[in-house]
Amino acid sequence: MNRVIVAEHPLIQHKLTLMRMKDTGSKDFRELLTEITMLMGYEVTKDLPLSEIEIETPVVKTKSKVLSGKKLAIVPILRAGIGMVDGFISLIPAAKVGHIGLYRDPETCKPVEYYCKLPQDIGEREVLLVDPMLATGGSATAAIELLREKGAKNIRMINLVAAPEGIEEVHSKYPDVDIYVAAVDEKLNDHKYIIPGLGDAGDRLFGTK
Ligand code: PRP
Ligand code: URA
Repeated sequence: MNRVIVAEHPLIQHKLTLMRMKDTGSKDFRELLTEITMLMGYEVTKDLPLSEIEIETPVVKTKSKVLSGKKLAIVPILRAGIGMVDGFISLIPAAKVGHIGLYRDPETCKPVEYYCKLPQDIGEREVLLVDPMLATGGSATAAIELLREKGAKNIRMINLVAAPEGIEEVHSKYPDVDIYVAAVDEKLNDHKYIIPGLGDAGDRLFGTK
């Protein structure tokens, strides 16, 4: 309950620093996010269950381990979450991908839903909910609520940067959702942006304003 797992690997921390720099352009930002996602994937998938199957190597028959638990679903929160899909798909190519479209209203900073398409068997899958930024936690809790309504039981949230306020908001409503992050930053500013953060992740990924 209330688990926050910070991925402190030096490669992740180095790449995150590059992403934070304001002069890092979209191409590098995208590539770095994919690389960090793959590195975080190692931690996120560390406890997936295994079973043994019989196989034949070129030399002998033997038993060897394969993944045996629930199938996975990767669910990005649009838009910025899209930047974390390729990294996970390259690790887990059989995973299905759902999409939840939410944007923060610029006036209220509350999430507005505009799209939701999830695998039909989402209730049978382990869900990896991905979004680079966890700020107020409004988007994350709205996404978790949607997933729960559609039957998802096991949800892990993976963010790049989180504010303490966002973590508190998610865990006050969903203490069973483990949160994996590369960094927990200091706070939110008056516009509900993460400080120091990295700015608007969606804009930086896609080169829009
Ligand atoms: C960003 C980010 C999260 C949300 C976090 O998306 O990718 O989804 O803000 O903020 P919150 O924790 O306060 O809800 P944004 O609304 O900017 O949409 P975008 O991904 O389309 O740019
Ligand atoms: N969304 C972002 O992209 N960045 C923030 O700092 C907060 C919300």
